[in-house]
Amino acid sequence: MCGIVGYIGEKDAYPIILKGLKRLEYRGYDSAGVAIYNGNEIEVCKTQGKVSTLEEKAAREISRVGTFGIGHTRWATHGEPNDINSHPHVSNNGELVIIHNGIIENYGSLKTELKKRGYTFYSDTDTEVLVNLIEDVQKNEGVKLGKAVQIALNQVVGAYAIAVIDKKKPNEIVVAKLGSPLAIGIGENEYFIASDASPFIEYTNKSIYLEDGEMGIIRLGREVRLRKIIDDKPIVPYVQELQLNLEQIEKGGFDHFMIKEIYEQPEVIIDTYRGRLLAKEGIVRLGGLEDHIEKFLNAQRIIIVACGTSWHAGLVAEYIFEELSRIPVEVEYASEFRYRNPIITEKDVVIAISQSGETADTLAAIKLAKSKGALVFGVCNVVGSSISRESHAGSYTHAGPEIGVASTKAFTTQITVLTMIGLRLAQAKGTISKSEFMRCLSELEMIPEKVEIALKTEDKIKEIAAVFMNAKNFLYLGRGYNFPVALEGALKLKEISYIHAEGYPAAEMKHGPIALIDEQMPVVVIAVESEHYDKVVSNIQEIKARKGKIIAVVSEGDTTVGEMADYVMEVPKTPEVLTPLVTTIPLQLLAYHIAVMLGRNVDQPRNLAKSVTVE
Ligand code: M6R
Repeated sequence: MCGIVGYIGEKDAYPIILKGLKRLEYRGYDSAGVAIYNGNEIEVCKTQGKVSTLEEKAAREISRVGTFGIGHTRWATHGEPNDINSHPHVSNNGELVIIHNGIIENYGSLKTELKKRGYTFYSDTDTEVLVNLIEDVQKNEGVKLGKAVQIALNQVVGAYAIAVIDKKKPNEIVVAKLGSPLAIGIGENEYFIASDASPFIEYTNKSIYLEDGEMGIIRLGREVRLRKIIDDKPIVPYVQELQLNLEQIEKGGFDHFMIKEIYEQPEVIIDTYRGRLLAKEGIVRLGGLEDHIEKFLNAQRIIIVACGTSWHAGLVAEYIFEELSRIPVEVEYASEFRYRNPIITEKDVVIAISQSGETADTLAAIKLAKSKGALVFGVCNVVGSSISRESHAGSYTHAGPEIGVASTKAFTTQITVLTMIGLRLAQAKGTISKSEFMRCLSELEMIPEKVEIALKTEDKIKEIAAVFMNAKNFLYLGRGYNFPVALEGALKLKEISYIHAEGYPAAEMKHGPIALIDEQMPVVVIAVESEHYDKVVSNIQEIKARKGKIIAVVSEGDTTVGEMADYVMEVPKTPEVLTPLVTTIPLQLLAYHIAVMLGRNVDQPRNLAKSVTVE
């Protein structure tokens, strides 16, 4: 995710763009930049760091005068966060300037082609490729900016919201959208563009939201013109009157970032596997992994180090890797690992999982592993973070910024990456049949749809939350792949509602926790279709016999557990190896609604920090 802003009108563009970028920093904040037309030329200023850093740099380096410009706040995907990779990007002839939110998947082949035609690239970004492709089209076809953007986009595979300006046309912004959001604000003789309406809500409540596959030509003094990118078909713009206030817009209309992020999961899981998983072709490929695959295949074991929710994702990976690729896996709390003089050799591969990439214990654990000669592979969300830089190799999750302290979309995107790693290793080792491999790939591709379906049960989960919001304790049980999900469900509840909750492997209950069960005790049991379904059913019976209240997560259409449980939360049927990606959803929603009903500060729970950079 990145944030984009643009202005064309009679006011000073720079302060409007700068304020808009600050409002969009929730979408990314590793670098920022602006391009302002000063009446003569387009002045570009960009920098690694937050918008406040840009503000200081721009005050020193550019005039900031002009009524036409664009700006960007970045969440790096291609190329680490630094000044050169920051947006805007300028085409080789110095005339076109672009800002982009999204990923151009085929940028590699386009770049090779453009290099052959004499283009030079200064950054590692996919965006710089696109702006030069547009320049190339303009040059070769002799067409205007709008047409050149359209022709170029028809050669592009990926996702984007872009705004392009041309030095020769300082009264026009060309925008286009596929997969990433873009809104046009319509004021009195002025236009705004932005990733959401927050940058322009104080100037106008009239907005056009572009649909996927649409582009627009915004020119001062005339109405916005929209077209289909694919076939140039004109579209009549639908102008909406916005009813939202600023805070609501930043949260996308949701009450909290946590619930917004829960609902983003279908989209960010796609972002995470996009370009890496080609189910029909039978390909799963992660750049960072391919370079070191031999090391993985010959590893005597894989050690996973992480903390909190990321550690739970690591536990899921243990089940997946051992089942699919038959490589021994150990999962360690980073904080324990680093202090217990672990035995590590060059034959080990250490995977560090971290949303922030800044967790102090995880960082220290990987430094220790490196010092003993192990290969360190990072699975991080924040591009350019300390853990990603300290690792020998890695794969990013593409969850976008996670603002809510309780991790949600980071967890499911971590599992998505780890599942792809497990499948790739299994394929390379020959420990999975071709048909099972193909089935897993296409099922993984369908997970976002299934997550959407699971999200639709929110109203029912809200009712369950209302029944149990005053419970003092909760027990969460699961087996196999869903044991870590039980741990994660319990962590979600305790960290945002402050209700005591414990996760256990379902069969372990009778070795102690069963003593806690009485009619006051809600027990959340993950009882979806699986190899151990009958065993879980027996565990449910044991709880029922002691009058515990059963809240069961079941597969759609299940009647056995349905009849035994007090409440059920249904999720779509899924191959067992992928179930954590869907069973997690109702548990996130349950924790969220209980916390809201108790009036807790859901996004910033007491005593917690989003990123734990101290031991
Ligand atoms: O940024 P990391 O993934 O390294 O963070 C690890 C934990 O601090 C984090 O998962 C924490 O447990 C969350 N608050 C859980 O929701």
